[in-house]
Amino acid sequence: MRQGIDEEMMKQAGEILKAGGLVAFPTETVYGLGANALDADAAVKIYAAKGRPSDNPLIVHIAKIEDLYKIVKTVPEKAKVLAETFWPGPLTMIFEKKDIVPEKTTGGLNTVAVRMPVDKTALALIEAGGGYVAAPSANTSGRPSPTKASHVAEDMNGKIEMIIDGGDVGIGVESTIVDVSVDPPMILRPGYINRQMLTEAIGEVAEDPAVFGNDTKARPKAPGMKYRHYAPKAQMTIVEGTPEKVVAFINEKIEEELRNGKTPGVIASEETKDRYEGGIVKSMGSRKNEIEISQHLYSVLREFDEQEVSQIFSESFDTPSLGTAIMNRMTKAAGHQIIKL
Ligand code: TXA
Ligand code: MG
Repeated sequence: MRQGIDEEMMKQAGEILKAGGLVAFPTETVYGLGANALDADAAVKIYAAKGRPSDNPLIVHIAKIEDLYKIVKTVPEKAKVLAETFWPGPLTMIFEKKDIVPEKTTGGLNTVAVRMPVDKTALALIEAGGGYVAAPSANTSGRPSPTKASHVAEDMNGKIEMIIDGGDVGIGVESTIVDVSVDPPMILRPGYINRQMLTEAIGEVAEDPAVFGNDTKARPKAPGMKYRHYAPKAQMTIVEGTPEKVVAFINEKIEEELRNGKTPGVIASEETKDRYEGGIVKSMGSRKNEIEISQHLYSVLREFDEQEVSQIFSESFDTPSLGTAIMNRMTKAAGHQIIKL
């Protein structure tokens, strides 16, 4: 449940950020771990709290489009169109940075990632903190991104000054990242704003072959995309095919695990969840409602870790609009282990 913005708390949060401290906050995608983006020492604290490699740059969050011009060298025409079309919202763009942005924030790069979120609490926090909030997802490096305040508390309690609870997030996978410092602009990470939506706004867009192709050895342009991100404690296998074949195959595997005294987990959908004959079955939501599926992805993975399942078998969720974003995360979680029936 989302409550109104508590002004007193927001003032306090703003003071923490201005003093160089860390505040976790909700956005429409996932929870962020915020620090003053223009303060190198504050940015360094983010890396320490997350256990994040220092070459993995942070996204700078702003609350007003005008503020973009103070931190980037040029705003190409196409980026203006994208900002007008998709900001505030789940889109991050990469620009050439001005000197005012410390290299600690950008992982040593001369470009900076910028996003203007639509979540009201996020916008209020950015304003309160001085306008520029560097924020990666608020998880320990290597764990799934947090989609509820309780996930943030699991990973960050005792390490940061404040957690703002804004309830469950709406989208559940991180923002789409588009590099607008090149032409045609290139998608570096898939998200809610998909290729078709971008193309409708600005024409041709490219995709980073290291992320969208099959070559798992190529080097992604977004440094964070090279990390496996999330390795569930249990081995995970994605099973692709018609629903009938997938259910039958997974049921066979479940039976095998149970026979060996193990506890398998299944990632299912509302349409199929009652057809599995054992193990711990979790539904991601209905295939008719894609956003339900992206919303639940990371919490399902976290729950399976807690329940210590022996293996995870998952249906594929290559849904029409959000499928690329969802499967990008799932494929990584499964270490690219996919069975095609
Ligand atoms: O939805 C989101 O984007 C969330 C919320 C909190 O806004 N944030 C988020 O941040 O996902 P993080 O740090 O988990 O992911 C940022 C990604 C990383 O893969 C990083 O390598 C990439 O953005 N990135 C940041 N700056 C970059 C740059 N200058 N060039 C290329 N990639 C960059
Ligand atoms: Mg992250």
